Amino acid sequence: MASAATHLGLREATLEGLQRTPKELPTVWLYDERGSQLYEEITRLPEYYPPRREREILRARSPEVAARTQARTLVELGAGNASRTRLLLDALAPTLERFVPLDVSEQFLRSTAEAVAAEYPRLAVDPFVGDFERDLHSLPAGSPRLIALLGSTIGNFYPAQRRRFLSAVAGALEDDDAFLVGLDLVKDVERLAAAYNDGRGVTEAFVRNALTAVNAELHATFDQRRFVYTAHWDPEHEWMDIGFRARHAHGVSVRALDLELAFAENEQLRVEVSSKFRRERFELEARDAGLGVDGWWTDEAGDFALALMTRNERRSTCP
Ligand SMILES: C[S@@+](CC[C@H](N)C(=O)[O-])C[C@H]1O[C@@H](n2cnc3c(N)ncnc32)[C@H](O)[C@@H]1O
Repeated sequence: MASAATHLGLREATLEGLQRTPKELPTVWLYDERGSQLYEEITRLPEYYPPRREREILRARSPEVAARTQARTLVELGAGNASRTRLLLDALAPTLERFVPLDVSEQFLRSTAEAVAAEYPRLAVDPFVGDFERDLHSLPAGSPRLIALLGSTIGNFYPAQRRRFLSAVAGALEDDDAFLVGLDLVKDVERLAAAYNDGRGVTEAFVRNALTAVNAELHATFDQRRFVYTAHWDPEHEWMDIGFRARHAHGVSVRALDLELAFAENEQLRVEVSSKFRRERFELEARDAGLGVDGWWTDEAGDFALALMTRNERRSTCP
């Protein structure tokens, strides 16, 4: 992130999250530069199937997405290394003029933008350092735009947050714009558990890095040895619950927030949820937010989906 401590609202969100039950750290703490590099490593793990499944769908369906959207501008929210986005960039080549990768992880974003600009010299590449929960109203113009959120990043929102986000996307879309989202689907619990408990411990290192970042930026005293990494399936919420369990009772100070935390033995500290989706429920959520799902494609195994959406109003005027 640009500088986590200066990131607008992050201190307040952290203070609020750490006072909840269970205690939570905002997910954005995962993505400083090291976190972004670790996430990139996760995408190459054999256990972590989502990027491969999403790539399979994009390979098959990007031409259709391009034909339907005719996008001049591609805005990618939470772009990361934009590795699978190349499939969209290639398919959209006849109409695309501008690519706007948006991410909170500034240095990583800059290197992604440089790499894409070098590979696509005819494209204007304008990186946007920002927060997709706050900055959707200031996305650049240039319709028809395709706004994409890949990698099942949407699964990292809590339900109320996701509702707000989808409504904000609907509010940001112009008549000719479309929204493309990648969604990991509900599946066998063993496969889900394996995806977040990889044999090499890369995911654990990624999640632990959030504690390192909070210690550095907010002068906190989280001691890694006192926390056990945990990632388990929550069947009620249908999400992977990812974070830590305190080994024993102890205290943690977060000096920059003037906060003293007491952890009980086995108390949970949540860093991320990764919700898994079902088509019908997602379509209802999208509809309630003002978005109509015009395209829904899955990989052959049915593990992952891509949904293409437009504003509800436009759909109702086009019978
Ligand atoms: C799950 S990763 C996905 C990365 C990439 N899209 C992919 O599919 O490989 C989430 C990405 O969103 C970014 N991110 C997380 N929270 C964000 C926020 N509030 N605003 C902007 N970017 C955010 C992270 O830095 C990271 O690059």
